[in-house]
Amino acid sequence: MNSHQNKVIETAVSASVQQAVDAVPLDEINVSDPSLFQTNSIWAYFERLRNEDPVHYCKKSEFGPFWSITKYKDIMEVETKPEVFSSATENGGITILDGNLGLGVEMFIGMDNPKHEAHRKAVNPMLSAATLARLEDTIRERTRKVLSELPIGETFNWVDRVSIELTTLMLATLFDFPLEDRKMLTHWSEVSTAMPGAANFVSDEYKEQELGKCLEYFTRLWNERAKLPPAPDFISMMAHSEATNKMTPNQFLGNLILLIVGGNDTTRNSMTGSVLAMSQNPDQYKKLCANPELVESMVPEVIRWQTPLASMRRTAVADYELGGKHIKKGDKVMMWYASANRDEEAIESPEEFIIDRRRPRQHLAFGFGIHRCLGNRLAEMQIRVLWEEILKRWPEPSIEVVGEPRRVYSCILRGYEALPVQINPK
Ligand code: HEM
Repeated sequence: MNSHQNKVIETAVSASVQQAVDAVPLDEINVSDPSLFQTNSIWAYFERLRNEDPVHYCKKSEFGPFWSITKYKDIMEVETKPEVFSSATENGGITILDGNLGLGVEMFIGMDNPKHEAHRKAVNPMLSAATLARLEDTIRERTRKVLSELPIGETFNWVDRVSIELTTLMLATLFDFPLEDRKMLTHWSEVSTAMPGAANFVSDEYKEQELGKCLEYFTRLWNERAKLPPAPDFISMMAHSEATNKMTPNQFLGNLILLIVGGNDTTRNSMTGSVLAMSQNPDQYKKLCANPELVESMVPEVIRWQTPLASMRRTAVADYELGGKHIKKGDKVMMWYASANRDEEAIESPEEFIIDRRRPRQHLAFGFGIHRCLGNRLAEMQIRVLWEEILKRWPEPSIEVVGEPRRVYSCILRGYEALPVQINPK
């Protein structure tokens, strides 16, 4: 694969795959199978559900029975009815695995109002436009350094060298976490999100043990900062806010994981996705080089195209009719953002990667409603700064993908373990 080839449509499937998908009886379709994401063959299933059964019931899966919501407008309806579709951990949480990534911890993403709102407000200032403007220079400086150390004319893994390194540095900044230990942040994020069956999943006991270490480390930071005057980092903010300063260890750990995972895998995979999207769409890469100001609209387009959080879950706490289907109290409801972001009723030419779309922020990658992503501006800023610096350093299309991406085994994250690239300045 390289940037000279013709355009590749990420979601395209061969005629034989399409035939195989069409042959599956509708009620046997199970879009939660993580291998469909790992092999990037999920798209034909999503398309079929959007066309034939947009509110679909899957009776049997490794995660139990669940509803699949695949169209943009139906997901909006679920997102805007939090009184019916609960995010609360005690009802099942926010991922297909019961109890929030199967961790059994409390996070404010896994709370309903009024509790949710109070916790969200406590960390909100850390992610405000004003705070981010202050952080931009640090992010730019670190991005420049990471890019300046990349090898030229040699194959390397973009995921490790750029995406992980930049997002981890960013998290360390937000937590004011000792830089020399920053790799532990990546480790805890990976341990939290590893799904049973994935190469990086060890065991539930290992998860518990490693997250215990995470709690211990952060509790030490908390205790130090609680005694000091308030400072502009997540730990200090939580330690000094009325809403969060009496959290139980389980709630504290939950919020930490939320911020670590929220700030890590999502942005990291969008950064990798941006390089893959450019490689598959060389016309767009050229257009960007000729018009660097298009970075502004390219960034939300990358996030839509990648949709690094493929799904979120809700649990019905009352009976509800959606799209003519009867969802019952207690049912698990999966919102497939990855599908909604390819819904042609909501987005023009959704299969195409177009860096100068008219309405690039028309997507559901950040969710919608009361739980809409709190880090959206931060994520966009990081990817924008990365591409501004790439374009300054290599003004012509120079980053080439030289092998197939290795994708993550998960139906929650749409991400990459490896993307081999070469930089060959023109
Ligand atoms: C491209 C990057 C990102 C994507 C695609 C993304 C996506 C999402 C999604 C889909 C939700 C849930 C929305 C819902 O349930 O309706 C969410 C929530 C959240 N995200 Fe992000 N996220 C990204 C980056 C970040 C970053 C950088 C941070 C912060 C460090 C962050 C922090 C959060 C938090 C705290 C929540 C919970 C909000 C709440 O429950 O009120 N995210 N994000």
